[in-house]
Amino acid sequence: MDNQTLTITDNRTQQTYTIPIWRGTIRAMDLRRIKAGAGDFGLMTYDPAFMNTASCQSAITYLDGDKGILRYRGYPIEQLAENCTFLEVAYLLLHGELPTEEELAYWNCEITHHSMIHENVKKFMDGFHHDAHPMGILMSTVAALSTFYPDARNVADPKCRRKQVVRLIAKMPTLAAYAFRHRLGLPYIYPDPELSYAKNYMNMLWRRTEPKYVANEVLARALEVLFILHADHEQNCSASAMRAVGSSTADPYSTAAASIAALSGPLHGGANEEVLRMLDEIGSNDNIPGFIAQVKEGKRKLMGFGHRVYKNYDPRARIIKQVAGEVFAVTGRNPKIDIALELERIALSDDYFITRKLYPNVDFYSGIIYEAMGFKPEEFTVLFGIPRTVGWLAQWQEMLQDPEQKIARPRQVYTGEDCRDFAPAALRGQKEPAGI
Ligand code: CMC
Repeated sequence: MDNQTLTITDNRTQQTYTIPIWRGTIRAMDLRRIKAGAGDFGLMTYDPAFMNTASCQSAITYLDGDKGILRYRGYPIEQLAENCTFLEVAYLLLHGELPTEEELAYWNCEITHHSMIHENVKKFMDGFHHDAHPMGILMSTVAALSTFYPDARNVADPKCRRKQVVRLIAKMPTLAAYAFRHRLGLPYIYPDPELSYAKNYMNMLWRRTEPKYVANEVLARALEVLFILHADHEQNCSASAMRAVGSSTADPYSTAAASIAALSGPLHGGANEEVLRMLDEIGSNDNIPGFIAQVKEGKRKLMGFGHRVYKNYDPRARIIKQVAGEVFAVTGRNPKIDIALELERIALSDDYFITRKLYPNVDFYSGIIYEAMGFKPEEFTVLFGIPRTVGWLAQWQEMLQDPEQKIARPRQVYTGEDCRDFAPAALRGQKEPAGI
């Protein structure tokens, strides 16, 4: 298209500026030359919560929120969920292409090889109280890994980076399973190199006295699919945390711990836990109209609904609904699915939700499956964090290799006091302290 430019007239000076448009964006730095006068800093954009700011270029995940499209490296999420293993998708996200048979075999072997954790990490985990939140345990132990692998600080070296990527992906299920067993007071189970990623995780979670854990095939496949669906979601809160913290060239373990912190929040990955608590509280279909009324009055949120980017049905929620049927055929039907389906039916026919384009997101149905599999609500977000580690690492690698990226350091619009002189305490008038 010709004339991909924007012409701006500054009404303060009557000066006109022509700014290039590239892929539907203008560069914020191009606005800096728009000045009211010689000493002026130049125009900035003000965008709290990054509602309309592209912070990077990325070739990893494509998302069209209006059409409900999600693709990893160009492949529709539906095709990947149907045909791939989680580690195959992890390879795709990190390398840009699906692996050949040989590459996949080597990749699987590499991940398996690194799934053990240092014995001292177990001791470290023993220090947590039995009711410590699993996301707190995961965040702290991932951060602690930075002290076990001091070489990881060398983030400029691609070989070193790759080693940490493999270590982190390999160790996440082990740490997650140990957190699970620690809370139950059960002995930790070592990784089994003969098992797939999901089956090995199940082995470390649920093996008791049997010499070899045999996972249920349907549940193992369901877990793989859930992992695939959660693997990346472009510039969400935790991926942005990964990029921002990583931009200071901190090591990847400390950086991933920051992402885990971001994920734990109830507006992000922590929503899956909140959905279950909400369904428990609603209790039966009879209570749904009263609950919806509270949501519409602004007293509550319908957790698992709404999304910053999706203004249509979240394609991941559609796949998760199918997986739920397969899981319930094995575990028995979780009765909360009926409350969730009725909530969805009522919400999707209600003007409040229709006008705001609020649809179920990935977290609405996932917890019901996790509960049917035997997880407690506080463990759900960990199940999000294991696969999302791959997305964080892919985003981190891309950020470090992008010559345009620098340390993340936003600007602000200062609204505080003008310069004023210090007064001794005896001469200060009483004022309501601000910001506490
Ligand atoms: N229940 C009721 N009203 C809602 C909800 C909800 N779940 N979500 C948004 N709204 C309303 C909101 O009150 C606002 O109404 P109004 O225009 O009258 O002020 C309008 O919809 C727009 O919402 P917003 O808060 O401006 O949207 P946002 O893009 O800032 O927030 C969100 C996105 C996901 C944080 C929000 O939808 C939400 O809090 N949802 C519930 C938590 C949740 O399910 N989070 C998981 C997100 S998907 C997975 C992930 O990211 O980890």
